[in-house]
Amino acid sequence: MKQTFPLFPEQASSIAPQVDALYFYLIAVSVFFSLLIAGAILYFAIKYRRRSESELPHGVEGSLKLEIAWSVIPLLISLTFFFWGASVFFAINRPPNDAIEVSVVGKQWMWKFQHADGQREINELHVPVGRAVRLSMASEDVIHSFYVPAFRLKRDVLPGRIATLWFEATKPGRYHLFCAEYCGTKHSGMIGWLEVMEPTAFQAWLAGGSGSESLASAGAKLFQQHACNTCHRPDSLARGPNLEGLYGNPVSLANGRKVVADESYIRESIVAPNAKLVAGFQPLMPTFQGLISEEGLLQLVAYVRSLSKVQPPAGGVPAPVRESSPEKEARE
Ligand code: CUA
Repeated sequence: MKQTFPLFPEQASSIAPQVDALYFYLIAVSVFFSLLIAGAILYFAIKYRRRSESELPHGVEGSLKLEIAWSVIPLLISLTFFFWGASVFFAINRPPNDAIEVSVVGKQWMWKFQHADGQREINELHVPVGRAVRLSMASEDVIHSFYVPAFRLKRDVLPGRIATLWFEATKPGRYHLFCAEYCGTKHSGMIGWLEVMEPTAFQAWLAGGSGSESLASAGAKLFQQHACNTCHRPDSLARGPNLEGLYGNPVSLANGRKVVADESYIRESIVAPNAKLVAGFQPLMPTFQGLISEEGLLQLVAYVRSLSKVQPPAGGVPAPVRESSPEKEARE
């Protein structure tokens, strides 16, 4: 009976205890101040109540000491929220370099997964316990949100960009996966499971999968198929930028700005090549919007990543593509 009415989700990821500790701290501070304020209201209401019809209150003098105290103390308390929250935020947004790669595509109304080795799954994701897993997530249609309560992780998956998320599961088991963004009539049915397995069982599961090719080599194949290699080449005949060593590094654009070549930038450069034209190149590249599926785009991105030794830039923070303007740099 106890199991059928859980008050709090299980903690099953390395980040879950950190998120919960911060959450309980916020609750403790809120409860403390609610009681303090409610108690003070009651106490003062009784102590300073009007005792007769003719009673007139005294004037009240200000107190500088008191005013400084009730400004500075709450400021210090709120700053603990900020610094603690920021440290958890950075932990959530900095995937370790040795993370396993999984690509995720959300669509009405299912989650599609593809492992780095090529195995595909729908509404179910198998991962090993005790290993960091990094998700590159895209949407085929509308905004979805990837939510695993037991991992204390939720991230919106927006059409037109690639969101990243990482976790390390700490307990084998089966955990709910939800879509946490209303995405149409069957939003409530867009659910699934995260199956956390012992490493050996996971290896056996991987080996038992269909022997499809890895994400990066599927991407390499698409790269050939669409003849990308006729322009993106290292020699002097190149009409497009060389993609080797591109991922994770800054790129100078024709408009004088600079961007970091993250996953969303690479994806955008395929579907809208002229949105961020690289300095020194002509706007010759056609758009591949609609010609390559969202899964294909993730494979191409995995391929371009594989051409670069650089690991995910500090963060994979789901920020919009980081831009800096030349004026700003001149000032710095
Ligand atoms: Cu997808 Cu709600």
